[in-house]
Amino acid sequence: MFLTPLDLRLRTITTGAREQGADLSREDLRVIQGEAPSPAALADWVTQSGLWCKAAQLTWRQLLKMTAAGAVILLMKDGTAAAMIRPDPVRNVVWLKDPEVETEQDGVAVDELRLSQLWSGEVLLIRPDRQARADNEPWDMMWIARVAMAEGAIIGDVLLGAVVLSFVSMVPAMIVMIVIDKVMSYKVLATLWMSIVLVLVVLLFEALLGYVRRQLSNIMALRLDLKMNLFVFKRLLGLPIDYFERTPTGRISYLIGQTVKVRGFVTGKLMNAILDLLNLVIVLPVLFWMSVPMAWMVVGLGGIMAMIISSFIKPVRRIYHRWLEFEVQKNIVLVETLHGIRTIKSLALEPAQRDMWDRRAADAAYWKRRLDDISNWPETLVSPFDTLMTRGVLLVGAYLSISGAEVTSGSVVAFMMIANRVSTPLVSLSKLLQDIEELRASVMMVGLVLNNRPETTTPGSGLRPRFEGGIIFRGVKFTYPGTKSRALDDISFEVPPGTVLGLVGRSGSGKSTITRLLQGINREYEGQIKIDGVDLREINLAHLRRSFGVVLQENFLFRGTVRDNLLAGRTGLTLTDAVRAARLAGAEEFIERMQFGYETMVEEGSPNLSGGQRQRLAIARALIHDPRILILDEATSALDPESEALVNANISRIAANRTMVIVSHRLSSLVDSNMIMVLDRGKMVDIGPHTQLLETCTIYRQLWQQQNRHMESFRSGARAALATSVGS
Ligand SMILES: Nc1ncnc2c1ncn2[C@@H]1O[C@H](COP(=O)(O)OP(=O)(O)O)[C@@H](O)[C@H]1O
Ligand SMILES: [Mg+2]
Repeated sequence: MFLTPLDLRLRTITTGAREQGADLSREDLRVIQGEAPSPAALADWVTQSGLWCKAAQLTWRQLLKMTAAGAVILLMKDGTAAAMIRPDPVRNVVWLKDPEVETEQDGVAVDELRLSQLWSGEVLLIRPDRQARADNEPWDMMWIARVAMAEGAIIGDVLLGAVVLSFVSMVPAMIVMIVIDKVMSYKVLATLWMSIVLVLVVLLFEALLGYVRRQLSNIMALRLDLKMNLFVFKRLLGLPIDYFERTPTGRISYLIGQTVKVRGFVTGKLMNAILDLLNLVIVLPVLFWMSVPMAWMVVGLGGIMAMIISSFIKPVRRIYHRWLEFEVQKNIVLVETLHGIRTIKSLALEPAQRDMWDRRAADAAYWKRRLDDISNWPETLVSPFDTLMTRGVLLVGAYLSISGAEVTSGSVVAFMMIANRVSTPLVSLSKLLQDIEELRASVMMVGLVLNNRPETTTPGSGLRPRFEGGIIFRGVKFTYPGTKSRALDDISFEVPPGTVLGLVGRSGSGKSTITRLLQGINREYEGQIKIDGVDLREINLAHLRRSFGVVLQENFLFRGTVRDNLLAGRTGLTLTDAVRAARLAGAEEFIERMQFGYETMVEEGSPNLSGGQRQRLAIARALIHDPRILILDEATSALDPESEALVNANISRIAANRTMVIVSHRLSSLVDSNMIMVLDRGKMVDIGPHTQLLETCTIYRQLWQQQNRHMESFRSGARAALATSVGS
């Protein structure tokens, strides 16, 4: 077989990527017709498979240093590529694998001169993605600590600022001491002037430092926010669909909303607490230096305050959790109401809905009040000690000075001022325990969502075969988690590529389940499912889903133009693709009649489109990337007969070159299918083309007769009429 240079290049890259743990498929490589893919495009291609990849320009010296783990692919001038096995700086050569030889061997040593004739200087560096591994870490306090610590530089700056600020903050007190003791007692004007200047300088300095500190913590909050947002959303989207089906949206959205609290806490309260602690560490020694008895008094009072506050932590925690649960309940009602607002309005269910809301809101309010009540206690009990700390100092100071200790009135006032700066941090520090409790609750709530098992733990792994569309089920049994009866019981069938397969059966017989298993939505089945002979479980999930087009009974159109909806954010597609897909789906005609054509806005819930139009748009959207397998699950069931006829008329055109699985309870739309499978309570009753089933399958015959009774009676009526007219 003759291989072009490009083939060789891609093969080298594919091999390199496989060594790093991911399978590439040429399908995913986006190339402009007639042009060789650029290094950047190649890097994109590798990145899509979940690896880390970068295109770079290297010199010989840099190449010799590339000893770290990962693949280094040299892009050659002739369009091929060679993988570097290892550099050998001692002998001043690099070992390359010969691209034309596929077998394992030592490779060839190439020196600088020889390589410069062959190599363009460009390389692709490929490594397992560290980020992807980080994405699999659980969401917990450790994760948050790690992310926060990654901002070490900023934290350092903030701490430094805080230390300086603590010292500076003591200057005014010192000045007051000097003013009282020296200036006022001995009436020294020069010292007063100096003090005034110092006071002004300190004022400015304090303001400036405060500004910098707020600025830094804002930056940190932003960065943390960004990281959390990326992480949370990625993880959320990585959860399997059955998690979302099991969990009310209102619960998920409320729990996820707690990330805001976590972020706010880490950059707000926690940061402040650490700064307060620093302040204490710096100010306390100064207090002891000024007066040991007074300093002990401050510490003793602080200790009592801390004890009071910590004794309330447990009861507060209990009530806090109760209150949270009712807040979640409230949010569930809210989100459900918004989702079902059409139904609620049209059935005039507002009073019932309002009632439900009121009850939840009342419960939440009750627990919130209890929470407020109990939280009020520690603050109330602490406040006398808080006041005592500053005023008591005055009394103790007065006593000390009467009893003849070395205490000036200036130092008592200064002590009071500084002690004032200690009591606030002490109170907030002892409150910190309670705040940390809240943080833990928030982290746990977000974790309840994010720490569920994701669909795949290794996004880049798995095979990416090119599909033709042959489907095999062998002894497939499946039970939905949390249910007892089997949704599918021993299903076996086999259809070649290009088949139109119809699925019929009563509601609940397992038709949708078959399509869900095919798309890898539910993966815990027994037996074997193969596509083109490849076991479904071995196929890369993203690749699998991309190879399918799916149209359901109800399809969600996004807010945006018709074109946006058709392209659905897929890269590399243009308006031409949208028009082609629309034509195939029979949607072109009405799109062009709309005022702005493909630029017409589709609103949320698409009220400006009829059911038939919406459905044809959904079909066009499913066809846009020319999927090998198209699934229509009751796609036409909700349509009026005219729209249904329109869609059905296009099906044979749509079916060309692809496998189709059509679920429909209207047998008339399946008559032309190559194969029809009849399901009943999860079991396959029969499979075959329409005419055969009419003879062999009782259930099918009954269904057919039910649906076509009017036709039968019409025909027999016509026959009778004919007979009488002939007879007369
Ligand atoms: N997400 C789910 N969780 C639990 N049970 C389900 C779920 N989806 C379907 N089922 C159950 O599985 C069976 C088959 O359902 P389905 O395949 O949707 O039937 P059909 O599409 O033929 O109407 C039914 O008994 C249904 O109640
Ligand atoms: Mg169904």
